[in-house]
Amino acid sequence: MKFFVDTADIDEIRELADTGLLDGVTTNPSLIAKTGRDFFEVVSEICEVVDGPVSAEVAATDHETMLAEGRKLAGIADNIAVKVPLTPDGLKTCRVLAQAGTMVNVTLCFSANQAILAAKAGASFVSPFVGRLDDIAADGMNLIAEICEIYENYSDFKTEVLVASVRSPMHITESAKMGAHVATVPASVLWSLFHHPLTDKGLDAFLSDWKKTGQSIL
Ligand code: G3P
Repeated sequence: MKFFVDTADIDEIRELADTGLLDGVTTNPSLIAKTGRDFFEVVSEICEVVDGPVSAEVAATDHETMLAEGRKLAGIADNIAVKVPLTPDGLKTCRVLAQAGTMVNVTLCFSANQAILAAKAGASFVSPFVGRLDDIAADGMNLIAEICEIYENYSDFKTEVLVASVRSPMHITESAKMGAHVATVPASVLWSLFHHPLTDKGLDAFLSDWKKTGQSIL
């Protein structure tokens, strides 16, 4: 399973990239706005820090403008995945960009049928938002299960399921059990995966016993 970090904060991205376990980055207009920085500058920096896909989202809603924006974004670096919304114009744009060899991440997916359309449009990734479904008392993880099951049935579907709007470590465990290809996760949630109280307790005991031996490895 691949882990992307869902942030535009370059320091958070650098810190996670240092672990060697970060496979990509997703941004969206809200995350860019949060940085208060220039869009192109931030995205270029991220693409230099991370080798894997970096999603950068278009701002237009009509096909022609989305396509022009998508082409401009794709020109930033080879690892850009142009993010388009799951609308008729977004999918039309996805198809054209994908046919030209550009990675496309179709975002704001909230139903299995929308995910089928994204796969047919040649998206590299589809982003179902689990947290936002949970927020309205729907079952976000059930959507991931449905999409994974459907994609499994069609060998011509090459789209990867990118679980988005992840709020907790359980979203990641459940997604992995279902076979989702990628989870894009806030930095704080990614860091929480490393920790377990029994790991800390066990390490303390090992270190204190080792100290008693008076030995050193180096
Ligand atoms: O990047 C899209 C998605 O992950 C947003 O998450 O927490 O704003 O619903 P959230």
